[in-house]
Amino acid sequence: MSAVVDTKNLSKRYRDKFAVNALNLTVEEGEVFGFLGPNGAGKTTTILMLLGLTEPTSGEVSVCGFNPTRQSLEVKKRVGYLPENPGFYDDISARENLLYMARLNRIPEDDAQRRTTQVLEQVGLADDGQRLVKEYSRGMKQRLGIAEVLVKKPIAIILDEPTLGIDPDGAIRILELIKNLNRDHGLTVLLSSHQLQQVQQICNRVGIIVKGKLIVQGELDELGKAILKGRQWNFLLDVSGNTDGLDRDLQSIKGIDEIDKRAHGWFLRCTEDVRGEVVALVSRRGLNLLQLRSEDPTLEEIYLKYFREA
Ligand SMILES: Nc1ncnc2c1ncn2[C@@H]1O[C@H](COP(=O)(O)OP(=O)(O)O)[C@@H](O)[C@H]1O
Ligand SMILES: [Mg+2]
Repeated sequence: MSAVVDTKNLSKRYRDKFAVNALNLTVEEGEVFGFLGPNGAGKTTTILMLLGLTEPTSGEVSVCGFNPTRQSLEVKKRVGYLPENPGFYDDISARENLLYMARLNRIPEDDAQRRTTQVLEQVGLADDGQRLVKEYSRGMKQRLGIAEVLVKKPIAIILDEPTLGIDPDGAIRILELIKNLNRDHGLTVLLSSHQLQQVQQICNRVGIIVKGKLIVQGELDELGKAILKGRQWNFLLDVSGNTDGLDRDLQSIKGIDEIDKRAHGWFLRCTEDVRGEVVALVSRRGLNLLQLRSEDPTLEEIYLKYFREA
């Protein structure tokens, strides 16, 4: 089995509420996987189960071939984890923080020195290693967190909302860093986020989780089609002639859900294929049909829809 992460019907219930509900998630070796979902969707709870930090209520989970609940040390040896709010010792330098971490992991001293220099360089903090962590910006702290994760040479890393609360420039740096770690070092990455745009920039595949359920997972460009298959049609209609009251007439066609006037025509969001009715209406009104074509929704539209519903 080559999947780094593999879950089957993984669930976690807090009292009477499912935080994660029958989740089937796979992350393959060598990929950057975006775990996407609005706040409260169940991302952190899932990640905690992957690391053996909280026990599933039911279902199966395997990480690097191990069961995180029973073999958490095996998982921790191989998988680095950057929590949402990594903690550091503020009154010592970044470098000393890393050395401390290395000692905790029983890495021999000269090895630890070498590793520390190396990872500070990897995350772009080589010149700031001697500074106290309390002088670090949030973005720098997050990169230091990644450095700390890298010290023990993981084969996979799990990052929980690594760009949360970071300014756009800082976020881009972090995303590029993650991309480079994957490309240059073959690290498998699972990254959670509630920001689609950021995930889109660096992920090969994404999974969208809403209210504890994975509603879709797959390659970015395939998702749009997959998720709405048979459930929604979008059309762009453009006509010339007297269009007074056309909105109202369109509204009366069964199956048209939403009408949006755009610069070049009307965008129709529909629950069924209404092209026949639309063409009939256009001809009844004596208008010229300039175009009527279907428009696949962008992933962003889909995500926003679920985001709103969550
Ligand atoms: N320790 C806990 N006890 C009770 N409910 C929790 C606990 N942790 C998370 N939850 C609930 O589980 C749901 C998922 O939370 P979480 O996994 O933190 O979502 P996300 O990371 O996607 O924002 C939320 O409704 C949250 O309130
Ligand atoms: Mg979270």
